[in-house]
Amino acid sequence: MTAATNLILGIESSCDETALALVENGKIVQKNLIFSQVDLHQQFGGVVPEVASRAHVEKFPLLLEEIKDAMKNITAVAVTQGPGLLGSLLIGQALAKTVSSVYNVPLIPINHLEGHIAAVYLENDIEPVYPFMAVVVSGGHTHIYFVKEFGSYELVGKTCDDAIGEVFDKIARYLNLGYPGGPIVDRMSTEGNVDAVQFPDVDFPKRKRKYDMSFSGLKTACIVAHRKNPTVKIEDLLASFQEHVMLYLARHTFDAAQEYDVGRIIVSGGVAANSRLKTLFADKGNELGIEFLSPELKYCTDNAAMIAGAGHWRMLQDDAFGVVEAAAGLKLEGLK
Ligand code: KG4
Ligand code: ZN
Repeated sequence: MTAATNLILGIESSCDETALALVENGKIVQKNLIFSQVDLHQQFGGVVPEVASRAHVEKFPLLLEEIKDAMKNITAVAVTQGPGLLGSLLIGQALAKTVSSVYNVPLIPINHLEGHIAAVYLENDIEPVYPFMAVVVSGGHTHIYFVKEFGSYELVGKTCDDAIGEVFDKIARYLNLGYPGGPIVDRMSTEGNVDAVQFPDVDFPKRKRKYDMSFSGLKTACIVAHRKNPTVKIEDLLASFQEHVMLYLARHTFDAAQEYDVGRIIVSGGVAANSRLKTLFADKGNELGIEFLSPELKYCTDNAAMIAGAGHWRMLQDDAFGVVEAAAGLKLEGLK
């Protein structure tokens, strides 16, 4: 490790992944440790906050044990500040404050969504170039931001009801397919016909921002289509639904990108792992001359490497005092 290396310990515990990572200079992932709690929550069909908090308390010490030899080299610790489950977040933050104090390194609070965006630079030969459009699509978010520079985010559109990951999860639960629903819907859709079931265009007069979206009506339409015709081939239903949702998201994103005149779109968050999203955005990007980027598959869903990565870019931008001051109250302006 050279003197200029910034080695950040990332800590993520906003939901149902207990994660620690060591990342050099926002790019080189030395360690990416994740304990996924999916099995614990599967029986409930969704995340149970109390169960999640207890699992974080139990698993963090085990993950820490795996990286204890490298801890003496860390130059900072970055932790998810929010949004997320309050009890789960507090456990990660308590660990971060302890590490910061024991190793005498700055503590950098990171917005979870900012982490998802920074995931695109991990193990990737891509430098941050501004401005760009950032689309964060996960179980809790479907947000389109105009990013002027690191830390400057203008929300230009978001879902006003369910997030995309949430509708995938809910539909999978309704059809008894398992949890989380996104990867299951994605996989089954590859065997279905996208034109088999017709979905309505979203009529959404109540939008606050020009690129606001709504997904709950489409979710209901999918469930109604199944109730009306229970013998419909599930793969066809899911393929048609996924296609409709992704076209709707792509239209809003690319319209916004063109209006704001950006040359790059970064799509991140768990739903960025979706295979149809990737092909659709890549094709549309090629057609319009807009670069489309998304993180490597393993960095799309929640992980701590993305938090450590975002910590690096924030440190480059903020003076050390600003970082420490923000960490004292774990308060930070930024994404909402
Ligand atoms: O970012 P993430 O790991 O956690 C949150 O912050 O929510 O995203 C999890 C969400 C879940 O709703 C899951 O169903 C969805 O991402 N997801 C997918 C795929 N893989 C995960 N959705 C669609 N297609 C996928 N391949
Ligand atoms: Zn997430």
